[in-house]
Amino acid sequence: MNLFLTGASGLVGSAFARAAARRGHRVTGTVGTFAGQIEGVGTQLTVDLSQEAAVTGAVLEVFPDAIVNCAAVSVPEQCEADPARAQALNVELPALLARLAHHVSARLIHVSSEQVFDGTGTTLYAATDRPNPINLYGRQKLASERAVHAAAPEFAATVRAPLLMGNSAGGARSPHERLLADWAAGRTPRLFQDELRQPCSAENLAEVLLELCERRDLLGVFHWAGRELLSRHDIGVRLREHFKLTATQAPLDRIARADHPEAVRKRPARLSLDCTPLVGKLKTRPQTFADQLGELHVPPPCRTWYSSL
Ligand SMILES: NC(=O)c1ccc[n+]([C@@H]2O[C@H](COP(=O)([O-])OP(=O)(O)OC[C@H]3O[C@@H](n4cnc5c(N)ncnc54)[C@H](OP(=O)(O)O)[C@@H]3O)[C@@H](O)[C@H]2O)c1
Repeated sequence: MNLFLTGASGLVGSAFARAAARRGHRVTGTVGTFAGQIEGVGTQLTVDLSQEAAVTGAVLEVFPDAIVNCAAVSVPEQCEADPARAQALNVELPALLARLAHHVSARLIHVSSEQVFDGTGTTLYAATDRPNPINLYGRQKLASERAVHAAAPEFAATVRAPLLMGNSAGGARSPHERLLADWAAGRTPRLFQDELRQPCSAENLAEVLLELCERRDLLGVFHWAGRELLSRHDIGVRLREHFKLTATQAPLDRIARADHPEAVRKRPARLSLDCTPLVGKLKTRPQTFADQLGELHVPPPCRTWYSSL
């Protein structure tokens, strides 16, 4: 297939490019500020995705079979800090890509987030449950879903993803990369013992997105996540063990939501996704956390510190 990938330098986009190339697809991938080469990307374009004319020109030039949107302002704090930039990437870009997908009859795969839910539920969230985002990022992701499926209902599939593990192109994006950077700098990360997430790896999500490119019969909003619900603190401890670090080399401060009411106001407490019906329709399987740990390596910015231990 001829694939147009936005956000090829991101955590998910770079994993998608590798997966697509392994299966013999031709990938045209966009980057914003990233300067290096992305493995698996045949044609790499530097495009400011907030510029409608630039995006339209690039898509029409490629005339893809499928558009895969992995670009976003994906860190909730960055959305709060610059709402206009986040709106352009998180809402206006997916809406534009949906209009273009409709125009060229391309499949459109969009990535949304578990953060469309408020996290007060005590069971699994189904894809049909009523969203109720409590932060700007979640509101923008929900708006993106609605815009995408209004503009290209016969072409689009959206996957709501959980907290993602993996090795990013820049080595500083994912949870283990951030923790290792903190430890390397002598900082003690503070992790909530009662904020629950159901992580999967970007590699595993990429396999799902790739299968969806090929499965044009699957339309609408779907959930995908890992097999286990873990606290942020448990995730930190498991990462520390995986990298064979001691509590002295890699300290963690275990904190409770009740002690930080202002900080948790915009942080959903418990995000657990029901992955049916997608899990029954794809070959890709949800991962255990142990599977995800097995994929992780020490990122380049932390290697000198790590090898000095
Ligand atoms: N990471 C998670 O834990 C997580 C969880 C749930 C859902 N998601 C969703 O998954 C998708 C992928 O997230 P991710 O974590 O892979 O994101 P990411 O690592 O933060 O990457 C974001 C991508 O967007 C690109 N980008 C941002 N602004 C741009 C602009 N103005 N012009 C061109 N490119 C621009 C970046 O390019 P440059 O870096 O080259 O500038 C980068 O390739 C997003 O929809 C996100 O909301 C992520």
